[in-house]
Amino acid sequence: MTAAQKRLATPNRAPGPRYLNPLKHFQESKRGGLKYPARLFEQYGPIVEIKTFPQSWFLINSPHAFRHIFIDNAKNYTKGKLFERLKIIGGNGLFFSDGDVWKKNRRIIGPYFKRGNMKHYVNAVVASGRKGVEYVDTKYADQEFDASELTHRIALYVVGRAFFGMEFSEQRLDRLLQAVKDSSRFGQSMLQSVVATPWLPTRVNRQGKQSLKVMYGTIDDLITEGLQREKGADLLSLLLESVKSGEMSRDHLKDEMWTIVNAGHETTATTMALMLYHIGKDPAWQAEVLAEIDEVLEGRDPTFADLSKLQKLDWTTKETLRLFPPAPGTARQAVEDDEIESYHVPAGSIVQTQFYFAHRDTRYWDKPEEFNPRRFATEETDNRPEYAYIPFGAGGRRCLGEHFAYMEALIVVAMLLQQYRVDIREDFEVEPYLAVALRLRNGVRVSLHKRS
Ligand code: HEM
Repeated sequence: MTAAQKRLATPNRAPGPRYLNPLKHFQESKRGGLKYPARLFEQYGPIVEIKTFPQSWFLINSPHAFRHIFIDNAKNYTKGKLFERLKIIGGNGLFFSDGDVWKKNRRIIGPYFKRGNMKHYVNAVVASGRKGVEYVDTKYADQEFDASELTHRIALYVVGRAFFGMEFSEQRLDRLLQAVKDSSRFGQSMLQSVVATPWLPTRVNRQGKQSLKVMYGTIDDLITEGLQREKGADLLSLLLESVKSGEMSRDHLKDEMWTIVNAGHETTATTMALMLYHIGKDPAWQAEVLAEIDEVLEGRDPTFADLSKLQKLDWTTKETLRLFPPAPGTARQAVEDDEIESYHVPAGSIVQTQFYFAHRDTRYWDKPEEFNPRRFATEETDNRPEYAYIPFGAGGRRCLGEHFAYMEALIVVAMLLQQYRVDIREDFEVEPYLAVALRLRNGVRVSLHKRS
């Protein structure tokens, strides 16, 4: 073979480092957090291949490639090895499963989350907003505190009301909140090593396993309570019908409800805390948002019809999800050899789509590091590539709870701001880090003061 023929026959590999020792990728990733992909994108461009053993890792920051992976050639990209590892915390629920199991359960659960169905949950969310105001009145007002602690509590309360048709007691909320935190840490540690070692007697592993016992024990109790009451309009009641008809096993129902508890509160809670952060940091914007809330709601609770009128709060939500997507990316594994933007992707490669970086890329955003909710009001939005903004993923595996999350964020934050003004110390900045989802190292330090 001539040198020219050889060149033609050699697949075009994406630029990126080669690590002979596969541990190196995990060490860099663990040590660097978000700085690791930032450095590689800076050095090699938007598609990076980390060539190592037993497979390559691709880091991807390209709307075009997102479309290829999630839509055009989605059948070649399964959730794969990383999600397989996370099954230790999430079982075979929708988020983690693939193939026929996923298809069947998405068909059962999907209709419940359609946009048109959201009006049925407004009352449950408004009741939770009231609970949130009560928490502030009794526990947090007029002192600096961590807003994410408040929003996690409210979001979990929402899960109880909307998806289980139950009011979670304070004790149950405490136990679940701690368990979710510990199991996330456990999950993250499963992702950060060449070989997952859940059997090692480390503190994270012990706490993680204990937290799973608490989670699954609680879900089991909730299912038993659900069976003992009359059928309601909540998700648990609906899925209990599938268990009774034999379409779903009780064990599988546990996995699905655990997925809903976890995916259904963490991400939205982080978003709501960060909305308060951005509003508190920008007094002029806060004044506009408060004026809009007062004008639309006229002092009463929000209704479904009000949501489309809370435009400034809606832009705040979108801009918050741009700067801090609580799912900063996701991963897939290539089933067969493929090509992404002319680069060869060997079968088995892990492909990590990095939404966080696409959302902050100067190719698509003007001054991307700035909080500017108005960018969602202008044609700037129309001129951007389709998947440059992708906080809820794309394609068949797009977030099931997207409409619910928007509704919840608008209602709860509007209800808090109806009552309170947000203050934030000038020197306080949030510090994001990764623990399966995006988390905030020192929370969101705010003070809330009753509006006169
Ligand atoms: C701001 C809030 C939220 C964000 C940013 C978010 C983000 C995401 C993303 C990016 C995915 C796709 C993951 C992938 O492709 O691998 C996803 C999937 C999913 N989300 Fe959300 N999510 C949010 C809220 C919710 C809520 C409130 C629920 C449930 C009540 C929920 C339930 C799910 C489920 C079940 C899946 C898996 C869907 C499937 O694979 O069929 N999410 N979410």
